[in-house]
Amino acid sequence: MGKIILTGDRPTGRLHLGHYVGSLRRRVELQNSGEFDRIFIMIADAQALTDNADNPEKVRQNIIEVALDYLSAGLDPERATLFIQSQVPELCELAFYYMNLVTVQRLQRNPTVKAEITLRGFAEGAVEGDTAQRPGIPVGFFTYPISQASDITAFKATTVPAGEDQEPMIEQTREIVHKFNAVYGPTLVEPEILLPDNVACMRLPGTDGKAKMSKSLGNCIYLSDTAEEVRKKVMGMYTDPDHLRVEDPGKVEGNTVFTYLDAFCREEHFAKYLPDYASLDELKEHYRRGGLGDVKVKRLLIAVLNETLEPIRARRKEYEGRIGEVYEILRKGSETARATAAETLREVRRAMKIDYFEDRELIEEQARHYARKAE
Ligand code: TRP
Repeated sequence: MGKIILTGDRPTGRLHLGHYVGSLRRRVELQNSGEFDRIFIMIADAQALTDNADNPEKVRQNIIEVALDYLSAGLDPERATLFIQSQVPELCELAFYYMNLVTVQRLQRNPTVKAEITLRGFAEGAVEGDTAQRPGIPVGFFTYPISQASDITAFKATTVPAGEDQEPMIEQTREIVHKFNAVYGPTLVEPEILLPDNVACMRLPGTDGKAKMSKSLGNCIYLSDTAEEVRKKVMGMYTDPDHLRVEDPGKVEGNTVFTYLDAFCREEHFAKYLPDYASLDELKEHYRRGGLGDVKVKRLLIAVLNETLEPIRARRKEYEGRIGEVYEILRKGSETARATAAETLREVRRAMKIDYFEDRELIEEQARHYARKAE
């Protein structure tokens, strides 16, 4: 059986470097490796609505941003199917069947859902009155792990390149597949998550050193940032707060500039931008010893980031002049995705024996039954 990728992003904003090193760069490499039979990349607008119900326009406007980021990063519509989740209604049908295979209790234990319940839901053990101020959990949000299982299984994906935050979703998907196959016979494929292979890429911190890049914290560097924006953001980046003078010894662990270098810097960058050092290890060594200023390290990072982003910016500029074509790519991709999902749905309905009109045996058997009865 072939290898198939499905992955995607919620269109709630432009994609940033965290998305890039966490998954997008990998997708492009996998696409170019030729190792996969099919690659589906989904813009998860319906999922984005599960916690943006009050702001549908944000989701609508960001579909093009994510599409532009995909194409600029090097996803190629000839080799990968780019599509919009809501345009594949088969996904909803599949989710509706899966809902019978998952308990409320299991969803409450999903770490992502659980975190949200703590934040805005009824606290465990609380009496109702305690939580009057909390907005509550939309049912759609509560069940989105099930919807995500449909996204993945509708395409019989074997491989989901994603960040570690997606692990609980893939785990839940595997459970659903297992349960479905046990109840209805082997039909669905259990997917595996493909995580970034380096810790720095696993969860790239924000420029302020906070655990995660996030739009609401304003600590992101976007794929679409200009060279000047990148320069400013890096110059303002969090380093080692105890590294006050150049001669002081500095800490590399938890130092955001070095974490970014871990994620982006390659040996050849040194010959090009900082030939006094042969490798990142040498640079770190000097920083630890003392005598190496933050600015020098930041300049290297600026050069490396801008080298990485330059071709992405150039492609984005081109696509920005062809918005109609980008929507056409998404329309065609959505049609292709729909055909694939519909094929899986046919198999699912057959396995569930709800394909009544195709089920000659059912019809004939019942006809015989009533014929006997009439004798
Ligand atoms: N949950 C993902 C995110 O928040 C988006 C997503 C939806 C997804 N369906 C998916 C990712 C299926 C991988 C596979 O970014």
